[in-house]
Amino acid sequence: MAKKTIADVDVKSKRVLMRVDFNVPQDDSGAITDDRRIRMALPSIRKVLDGGGRLILMSHLGRPKGKDPEADKKWTLAPAAKRLGELLNQEVIFAPDCVGSEVEKIVAGMTDGQCCLLENVRFHAAEQIKDKDAAKDSTLREQKDGFARQMADMADVYVNDAFGTCHRDNASMLTVPQQMQGKPRVVGFLVEKELKYLGEALNNPQRPFVAILGGKKVSDKIGVIEALLGKCDAVLIGGAMNFTFMCAQGRSPGKSMIIVEKDKIGEARHLLELGGSKLKLPVDFVAATDLKEGIETQLIEGDLPDDLRGFDIGPKTCKAYSEIVTNARTIVWNGPMGVFEIKPFDVGTIAIAQVVAETTDGGAISVIGGGDSALAVDKAGLSEKMSHVSTGGGASLEFMEGKSFAAVEVLDDA
Ligand code: 3PG
Repeated sequence: MAKKTIADVDVKSKRVLMRVDFNVPQDDSGAITDDRRIRMALPSIRKVLDGGGRLILMSHLGRPKGKDPEADKKWTLAPAAKRLGELLNQEVIFAPDCVGSEVEKIVAGMTDGQCCLLENVRFHAAEQIKDKDAAKDSTLREQKDGFARQMADMADVYVNDAFGTCHRDNASMLTVPQQMQGKPRVVGFLVEKELKYLGEALNNPQRPFVAILGGKKVSDKIGVIEALLGKCDAVLIGGAMNFTFMCAQGRSPGKSMIIVEKDKIGEARHLLELGGSKLKLPVDFVAATDLKEGIETQLIEGDLPDDLRGFDIGPKTCKAYSEIVTNARTIVWNGPMGVFEIKPFDVGTIAIAQVVAETTDGGAISVIGGGDSALAVDKAGLSEKMSHVSTGGGASLEFMEGKSFAAVEVLDDA
């Protein structure tokens, strides 16, 4: 069901509570190393500010437990407030908490067109209480509701523009809009765009429709592979999860055996049977004795010897996968083909990124999942060449798996 968007709401003089996903990567000094998630929220933010709304932004950063304020401190959203201020070229008030009398005072003093970012919602343990746990424990339910109520009461309008967190039932994502029933509750432009690209690629693809799935663990991707085998014309596998499939075929992954998920071999076998010729596995590998930058490598076809680990797909696999991708009209990609962070094991991922970019240039639709895949495409300098690069890692995976998002369902229908 399509949802109302921020374009449908007159925000003039309204207090607009917008959940964004400013969970951005930082270096050891706390400096933001990639501000894409902040930049991608700018259209919704500007829409509210230009419309004369009083914008209250809330987000999480990292995974603080909300139990030890001293330990949690490193996850402060202060750097995000600073960066947002630079991007907007206007003051962003940074509130020292997300609830409480001081925050209420700040919000009460805001004027039209002002913007405030609340401190990390995960500094409160109640933010991450799962609804399934709250259903079994009334104290947890009261804690989550009480926490959400304080944020809900601050605002006239709720906006969800946090695609990367849409798969979570966190208080700021689900309980707050539940408690704001009767007031406008809408999606922001980023969530609208993400749902459009991912939804159209998955549910109305131009064919051939090809999925490229990589990454370390097959356990993270079983549901997605199964769902995509039902929709795609080909599913190309890369990354370390391939070694679990090799075991399922009775083949040897060599020293890569140490990362095989032995309890998932049965499920990998099931996927192989389900996929038949649609499911493609690498035929060769860039292998080495250890994972070190610049280490001597060997190209291995077929099974790996006991003393070598595979860290990237080899040239024959690149060629075979490239031929399939070139003919595709719709491509979804989630997970790198090798250990792209360490040279020379980035070659396969970059080669695939290049062919996806070229195919997109030729008219195909390409949707890149967030997380590592987005980083890899960015590292290859090809983000702008893709139809859409998602800001959601786990969220885009769950969407591809066909799961619905309660945090979106709760919002007003269009
Ligand atoms: C992400 O980075 O995938 C989102 O911000 C969600 O973060 P989480 O996995 O800690 O909930």
